[in-house]
Amino acid sequence: MSPLVPFGKKFREKYFPNLDKEAYPLNHGSYGLTPKPVHEEYVRTLSKEAEYPDRYIRYDLPDKYVRALKSVGEFVNCDYRDLALVDNATTGINTVLRSFPFEKGDKVLMMSTVYGSCGNTVKFLKEYKGIEYQVVEINYPVQDDEIVGKIEEIFKTQLVKMCMFDTITSMPGIRFPFEKMVKLCKKYQVLSLVDGAHCIGLIPFDLGDFKPDFFISNLHKWLFVPRGCAMLYVDTKHHDKVQTLPISHSYTSDNLVDKFTFIGSKNYASIACIESAIEFRKGVCGGERAIYEYCLGLSEQAAKRVKEIWGDVEVLGISGALVTVEVPMANPRLFDDATMVKQCEEYVYGAMIRQYNTYVPMVYHNGKIFARFSCQIYNELHEYEYASRVILEIFDNFFKSLNK
Ligand SMILES: Cc1ncc(COP(=O)(O)O)c(C=O)c1O
Repeated sequence: MSPLVPFGKKFREKYFPNLDKEAYPLNHGSYGLTPKPVHEEYVRTLSKEAEYPDRYIRYDLPDKYVRALKSVGEFVNCDYRDLALVDNATTGINTVLRSFPFEKGDKVLMMSTVYGSCGNTVKFLKEYKGIEYQVVEINYPVQDDEIVGKIEEIFKTQLVKMCMFDTITSMPGIRFPFEKMVKLCKKYQVLSLVDGAHCIGLIPFDLGDFKPDFFISNLHKWLFVPRGCAMLYVDTKHHDKVQTLPISHSYTSDNLVDKFTFIGSKNYASIACIESAIEFRKGVCGGERAIYEYCLGLSEQAAKRVKEIWGDVEVLGISGALVTVEVPMANPRLFDDATMVKQCEEYVYGAMIRQYNTYVPMVYHNGKIFARFSCQIYNELHEYEYASRVILEIFDNFFKSLNK
């Protein structure tokens, strides 16, 4: 099915009218963005809650929570009773790691590309619970089979309790072989903890297909739910091992639904917008396939165009709607120095946002700088042309500023 309004500029004007008219928004991947009808549902929910908080929180919220769980369950193909809704991917990962009954010396395996907050949670557990962890070095470009093979070698020779990996790594934004990894974990009886911060709404996904032990996905990034909403899937056999963060009234509940519905006074309004976000995707956007096809098509065109502008550079990956391209640079090894990285980030990001009204996150990885562009249904090709020229200009100015 086709969208009601063509994706791109017209779609942006009608459904994302709050976006700054002067901005080139090429970083949907970091925080997500909510279309107008879903935003309106969010505002209605806040007003409803404000009308009579006791009624809303005691009676409406539990109902809305279960309806939201059922929508997500249907969307990802799993039993809604294996799901919980939490604030974000960081909270989901913390929820599992900090409540799982690790014993001193248990080993957690994670990748060098792990998202900072999630990696830090594992480090925290080493200090506070005495677990061990090992980091698998992942340097892109690398083939999926090489990654899986490297991890299998570790599983063969060492006792690993849990392995944490992404669906799509953050920076650079590359699809990780997560389906193969879940199978591998099962083969070696290692628990799989999948960080799908970038997953639901970004790539076609069927949870019933690969059944990890624990899986988290943000709903506020790519599904268009207002910020502060993520799903946590816990295999039924582990329900008793997962507690809410913070521990709350529901500590002794023996099912996930009761446990996670109310964990303290906070804003629960985004949960009430999940159905509306899924409906928007179906009705206004013409369904998941229409969204994926537009974003992937735009990603491929953007990668080609940026490469034409930047010259002989590597397109590291196109993962759904995330495109990672090497930024051309005479001496990228300059960024082996962490102070230089910090100085450059301040200069380049500051100029991008304040002077040029755009933002594209970049990372120094394996001796090169890579830029990660997000391609969303409100974007058009000319925005990537603009941003890639801007990036060249800003880096040029940055290097000149160093010689002053
Ligand atoms: C792989 C990965 N994990 C976790 C997160 C954290 O997401 P949040 O800020 O919603 O907690 C991100 C954010 O981009 C991410 O890319």
